[in-house]
Amino acid sequence: MSSKKIFAANWKLHKNPAQTREFFKNFLSEASKSLFASSNSESEIYFFPSAISLEATSQSLKDSPVKFGSQNCYSLSQGAFTGEISAQVVKDIGGHSVLIGHSERRKIFNEVDQLIADKVAHVQSLGLTPLFCIGETLEERESNKVKQVLETQIRMGLSKADSTKSLIVAYEPVWAIGTGKIASSAQVKETHQLVYDLLKSVSFEKSAILYGGSVKPDNSKELLQIPHVDGFLVGGASLEPLSFMAIVRS
Ligand code: PGA
Repeated sequence: MSSKKIFAANWKLHKNPAQTREFFKNFLSEASKSLFASSNSESEIYFFPSAISLEATSQSLKDSPVKFGSQNCYSLSQGAFTGEISAQVVKDIGGHSVLIGHSERRKIFNEVDQLIADKVAHVQSLGLTPLFCIGETLEERESNKVKQVLETQIRMGLSKADSTKSLIVAYEPVWAIGTGKIASSAQVKETHQLVYDLLKSVSFEKSAILYGGSVKPDNSKELLQIPHVDGFLVGGASLEPLSFMAIVRS
């Protein structure tokens, strides 16, 4: 993996269009003072707002190097699929990426690996980058099933993906998401090595591997030193411009 670090913000079901515009006004003014001004091409920033705020995001980020995408999409772009999000439309409004298989989608919305595989392939076919999420529950970790779970998620989720096209992976232990419980450096080190080895076994070793789960400005620096941690997927701490900016600066 290159030395470029990736910082992705997952806003979940937060921020309406007006709040989105307000956030970017502050974030971009802060970023242009330091981040963009120092031509920090070593980092790439993505925002994943909720669906109704995508248009406001697109307009706000139009003249900036910051990228955005949706938190989900369907595996087809058009048709009789009430309530779904079209990745083609995300692309049409300037989006670059789609989050696929976040643990909340897997758990609350019953998304299974086969559907996730179709979505990953669909997003790639449009020339967008899937941000493919994996991670084990606490119960799975405590019963020593981490390898088995991640291997299944990777093998099945990427079964229709193209390793010559772009793809980012986010490892997010489910028990660390939104809980304030951060995985220890030793756990992150061991699991990111495992994820890298598993990705290599299916020819996806070039994909960046992000860590996610209660990343905050006060733990991001240490986590970023760990081998095969190529950046972060950040939920709660990405909702405030200054706290997300502090993570990007790490
Ligand atoms: P968190 O969420 O940073 O609030 O733990 C991360 C995520 O769900 O992607």
